[in-house]
Amino acid sequence: MPSVADTLREKIRTRRARAGVVGLGYVGLPLAVELGKAGFHATGIDLDTRKVEAINEGRSYIPDVATADVQALHGKGLLDATTDFAVVAELDTINICVPTPLRKTKDPDLSYIVASVEEIAKYFKAGQLIILESTTYPGTTDEVVQPMLEANGLKAGVDFFLGFSPERVDPGNPQFHTGNIPKVVGGVNEASSDAAAALYGLVVKEVVKVSSTRAAELVKLLENTFRAVNIGLANELALMCRDMGINVWEVIDAAKTKPFGFMPFYPGPGLGGHCIPIDPFYLSWKARQFGFESRFIELAGHINGGMPRYVVDRVSEALNSVAKPIKGSKVHLFGMAYKPDVTDYRESPAIDVADLLERRGAIVTYSDHFVPSMPAEHGHKPRTEVPFDAALAGGFDIAVITTNHKTFDYDTLVAKSPLILDTRNALKGRPGAHIFRL
Ligand SMILES: NC(=O)c1ccc[n+]([C@@H]2O[C@H](COP(=O)([O-])OP(=O)(O)OC[C@H]3O[C@@H](n4cnc5c(N)ncnc54)[C@H](O)[C@@H]3O)[C@@H](O)[C@H]2O)c1
Repeated sequence: MPSVADTLREKIRTRRARAGVVGLGYVGLPLAVELGKAGFHATGIDLDTRKVEAINEGRSYIPDVATADVQALHGKGLLDATTDFAVVAELDTINICVPTPLRKTKDPDLSYIVASVEEIAKYFKAGQLIILESTTYPGTTDEVVQPMLEANGLKAGVDFFLGFSPERVDPGNPQFHTGNIPKVVGGVNEASSDAAAALYGLVVKEVVKVSSTRAAELVKLLENTFRAVNIGLANELALMCRDMGINVWEVIDAAKTKPFGFMPFYPGPGLGGHCIPIDPFYLSWKARQFGFESRFIELAGHINGGMPRYVVDRVSEALNSVAKPIKGSKVHLFGMAYKPDVTDYRESPAIDVADLLERRGAIVTYSDHFVPSMPAEHGHKPRTEVPFDAALAGGFDIAVITTNHKTFDYDTLVAKSPLILDTRNALKGRPGAHIFRL
């Protein structure tokens, strides 16, 4: 008689395995679509009824996922969604892609993982493969998820299979997407790693196996800590260059012509998004449990976290050059998304810049067609964009380029703005005495 592992692998090989994805956001929807494209019947589970309805109507709500793909897969019966976890009983594989934010105290907030695993555990059965994809600290899969799933008497690695595989999707990246980014997997045992690798092997370009869930969890934290630390270095260099009268962007561009041993990172108004400002603190939190102080992470957090204040100081300096105070001046931000050409404004430094300017009495408005409005949340007030042309027609005292969207008309912006602070080098090479650069 075939083992539980053999049966699952055979179901995966023949695409008879029914795949489930819990959490249909920036990570989960692209994954569900790739599973569908690989020939699996993929079912998404999300608490957000709007997302579930969109999928069941054949619509995408994530810019990197084409509606045509969702429509085609839904039409073929390969993609659907539900809010009801009871469907777990019909699934063979389940990928968990729920948020992992920080608490106000900068401690990991695993409440979404715990809530979704509690629901999965109610309908969970022998022979299934569960893979956590949410970014988290080493130990989450075997210390938190495994005991919850084993509570009903099944044994991980024997009766069911459990692994961790970090998601590396980069929203807005035209070259790399879920399907062509190598996938790292680590299981709680060999059978779990093999089962996870068998599934991803049919869905993504390349699978990289590591020896444990903890190693796989740490891979993701290393990748994002590497970025946070190097962005911190670039920001510190920008502060130094300012005092030395050197153009930091010119220096980085020249340094990156070195064909080996250097990788460019750029300064900016601060970190944003759901990953880089958050993930390193998952690592430093866990390291503290081992009596380890992760000084690079803390230092990078300090420098990067100070950038919105530095931007406000530079706005003040630019206004000062025309004898204007911040108080009462109209400051218009171009860009609210945390990076170019995406709709995501979570943790965006532009929000902090806006709040800090208002605290000093500025009248702040913004343009960003990717972020037409923002509700009141996380202690920030609601905001609605002023469309680009209307903003330039209406006038302001200073423009601050906070996000370098490709779609902004920079010629018009330069021509019609009395003063500009460019925090992103969007105006590279353009002359103008009224242009101030970070
Ligand atoms: N966005 C990225 O670029 C990116 C890249 C790599 C890794 N990650 C990581 O992937 C994870 C998911 O991030 P995201 O950006 O896709 O988040 P997201 O907020 O876009 O999506 C998460 C989804 O989970 C749903 N959800 C929340 N609680 C749930 C529950 N109990 N049951 C079912 N659904 C639930 C939400 O409604 C939402 O649709 C996080 O750990 C994040 O750090 C994100």
